[in-house]
Amino acid sequence: KRTVPAVIVIFGGTGDLAKRKLIPALYNLYLDGRMPQNFQIIGLGRTDLENSAYREKLFNDLSVFSRSGVPSLEEWEGFACRLYYFRSSIESFDSYSGLEEKIEAAEIGFGERSDRIFYLSVAPRFIAKVTENIKLAGLADGLDHDRIIIEKPFGHTKTSAVELNELLTSSFSEKQIYRIDHYLGKETVQNILSLRFANALFEPLWNAEYIESVDITVAEKIGVEGRGSYFEAAGALKDMIQNHLLQILSMVAMESPDIIEAEHIRDRKVELLKAIRRIPVEEVREFVVRGRYGSGTIDGKDVVGYLEEDGVHQDSITETYVALNFFIDNPRWAGVPFFLRTGKRLLEKSSSVKVNFRNQAEGPFRDIYGGDQLPNRLLINLQPGTDIRLRLNAKKPGVNTGLRTAEMIFDFGADNQYSPEAYETLISDMLAGDPSLFMRADQVNEAWDVIMPVLDAWSQGSDDLLVYTAGIAPEELIIPHTYRTDIDELTS
Ligand code: BG6
Repeated sequence: KRTVPAVIVIFGGTGDLAKRKLIPALYNLYLDGRMPQNFQIIGLGRTDLENSAYREKLFNDLSVFSRSGVPSLEEWEGFACRLYYFRSSIESFDSYSGLEEKIEAAEIGFGERSDRIFYLSVAPRFIAKVTENIKLAGLADGLDHDRIIIEKPFGHTKTSAVELNELLTSSFSEKQIYRIDHYLGKETVQNILSLRFANALFEPLWNAEYIESVDITVAEKIGVEGRGSYFEAAGALKDMIQNHLLQILSMVAMESPDIIEAEHIRDRKVELLKAIRRIPVEEVREFVVRGRYGSGTIDGKDVVGYLEEDGVHQDSITETYVALNFFIDNPRWAGVPFFLRTGKRLLEKSSSVKVNFRNQAEGPFRDIYGGDQLPNRLLINLQPGTDIRLRLNAKKPGVNTGLRTAEMIFDFGADNQYSPEAYETLISDMLAGDPSLFMRADQVNEAWDVIMPVLDAWSQGSDDLLVYTAGIAPEELIIPHTYRTDIDELTS
């Protein structure tokens, strides 16, 4: 158990993220004995709620969203007695003195000053005001102890991200700022580095000489889930590509860090982001495809189209699907297309990285090539499947020269090892003061720089926005014509 007590203040304590991810993560850390001996969680919100009603609501949410299922009453009570609700208006400075009293009351109970953690799970437009008020109220003056956690999207353009970073660093030290990209907390995403750099097998082949193309797909079955008004201002490019998919790409393509340590890894990632070729604004339509889901059927149920979702404007041009083709201008990846795509309301939830190796058509099996020999492919399933599959060619039994494909499979889930949720890992690291899995300011800025030409091109007109039927397989959606891997290969 950690010995320093902690007060965790959640701005957006009644919001979607708190209910689906943050409270379940904190609860499971508590069950696993990974919370400090003394801690208190204060959820902030605008509605008028008693502590007891807040606790009851979270109990119900936990039963749905926690990986450990319905809490046992005994365990729940041990956790719930540390949960408080504070009604506040986050833009009004007065609320912050009330908050201070709450925090101090907790600290009197602990008998010492705690680590104060401010989790900003609020709409981006509130971030500046909230951080300013935290600073002005002197709530986070313990430089080595107090932290602020910022959820994405971090800014809405490169300029606004740079400004936000300037604002944050004028009030807090970089050590106090934790920018979350929850994909970095996923075990299977972290494993990309282990796979690449802890094995002799892959790294020598991990380059343009042996790799033909790389596909990164994050497909979701869900729609906007009541977050229509947030999504309207975001869209899939800002919501998913700017952060999660570019992070995955960085891990797949970055050069080797000298050592697995936060700053080394972040340096290599920034170099990689800088090396991504910026798509000229006038060529965006060739390299990028966008779409929006219409109504359709998922799991046998009819679902509404994006325009019918709550909070969505009738004349919306927000995209729920993006597919784009990047190139990386460095010696390792010269000429190799990277294909990134993500979408909502697709057939199934499935995220993966496919590393497509070049075929061996000129090798000794050339005469029977085209029949049975397929290029090697490393398929890294990130979620919900958690396995890694290496496709090989092997002898066809009973036939002298024939080939068949075989797969070597490593299944992460199979050995039933303890596998925490992304938010558990991230919150636990943050409580321990370890920033390795969080975003440094320059990473965020560079990732914006990569997507800015797309945003600029899209602001000039939207007649390229396609409408797809909810429930469609991602392979059936249009992809940029610059990406030339054949469709069979993509879907197999
Ligand atoms: C969030 C996005 O960051 O990631 C959501 O805002 C998206 O729109 C979610 O649904 C996907 O996360 P996961 O962990 O379910 O893949």
